[in-house]
Amino acid sequence: MIEFGDFYQLIAKSPLSHWLDTLPAQLSSWQRESLHGKFKQWFNAVEYLPTIMPTQLDLKHSVSADVEQGAITDRQRDAINKMLRELMPWRKGPFQLYGTDINTEWRSDWKWDRVLPHISPLAGRTILDVGCGSGYHMWRMVGEGANLVVGIDPMQLFLCQFEAVRKLLGGDLRAHLLPLGIEQLPELKAFDTVFSMGVLYHRRSPLDHLWQLKNQLVNEGELVLETLVIEGDQNQVLVPGDRYAQMRNVYFIPSTQALIAWLEKCGFVDVKLADLNVTSVEEQRSTDWMTSESLPQFLDPTDISKTIEGYPAPLRAVLVARKP
Ligand SMILES: C[S@@+](CC[C@H](N)C(=O)[O-])C[C@H]1O[C@@H](n2cnc3c(N)ncnc32)[C@H](O)[C@@H]1O
Repeated sequence: MIEFGDFYQLIAKSPLSHWLDTLPAQLSSWQRESLHGKFKQWFNAVEYLPTIMPTQLDLKHSVSADVEQGAITDRQRDAINKMLRELMPWRKGPFQLYGTDINTEWRSDWKWDRVLPHISPLAGRTILDVGCGSGYHMWRMVGEGANLVVGIDPMQLFLCQFEAVRKLLGGDLRAHLLPLGIEQLPELKAFDTVFSMGVLYHRRSPLDHLWQLKNQLVNEGELVLETLVIEGDQNQVLVPGDRYAQMRNVYFIPSTQALIAWLEKCGFVDVKLADLNVTSVEEQRSTDWMTSESLPQFLDPTDISKTIEGYPAPLRAVLVARKP
């Protein structure tokens, strides 16, 4: 059983306390009814990992932890590597943990480098990361001095990857991942910054998603939105057919101008386009830790400006906006 008691205690005397009206019941029914067939195997790998207090820890420029040579044995280092491999595929990272370099499908650190210069300083803030994956960016938020980082993601493998990394980072309690979708959250109105990165195009109702994000923010809070966009004017939105870059669950890919209009329609102000970037095959690719096909196979081999379905290749925008 994954224990969420530490989190409940942490929020009991905070502006998030009213979440306790619904959250414990939601998470205990999740543990009773919705566990993935492989959850036990993943959870055992997490349980088997030691909680280590790193003497070398970097969350500011990477997510890496180690101890001096000789402080743990080579056998212990091999066991850590083996348990982390039990949690494959690793999509978001990379992580450097006690001699194991988890070379993930995505260079999530490159996305962070594009986002960080454009957002309000995170020091002291209470943060929600919607669709946080393995939690890579959550640790980088902790590295920027966040007070508390809450990530939500319904994928149970990612929860186990997050808990594995947490143990190897010394059991740090400034970050918590809850196995929930955004639609399961009440209107908390309690986060200083809300991140939604790589989620909007997976939502069937993108304006509802923007409203849900706004409802998590305090007044004057900041939204950091990263999503796929297309070139075009305010009236252009791509609704792909069966698949986009081989993904089945892609619904709306707006132009940047349309996205700005959506944000303003939902009541956000000071909407700024911070970054626009064509995803490269160096940023998303198969690795030793994610061996399935990846972006190089999802692009047209004769014209990499298109996906294999003939749509514009992935172009990603970062927008920053304020809730008044
Ligand atoms: C493309 S990944 C992005 C991960 C990370 N935020 C990043 O930018 O690298 C999208 C993530 O959103 C999660 N997701 C999908 N539907 C969601 C929902 N309804 N609520 C929250 N997260 C969701 C997926 O499980 C997946 O981990």
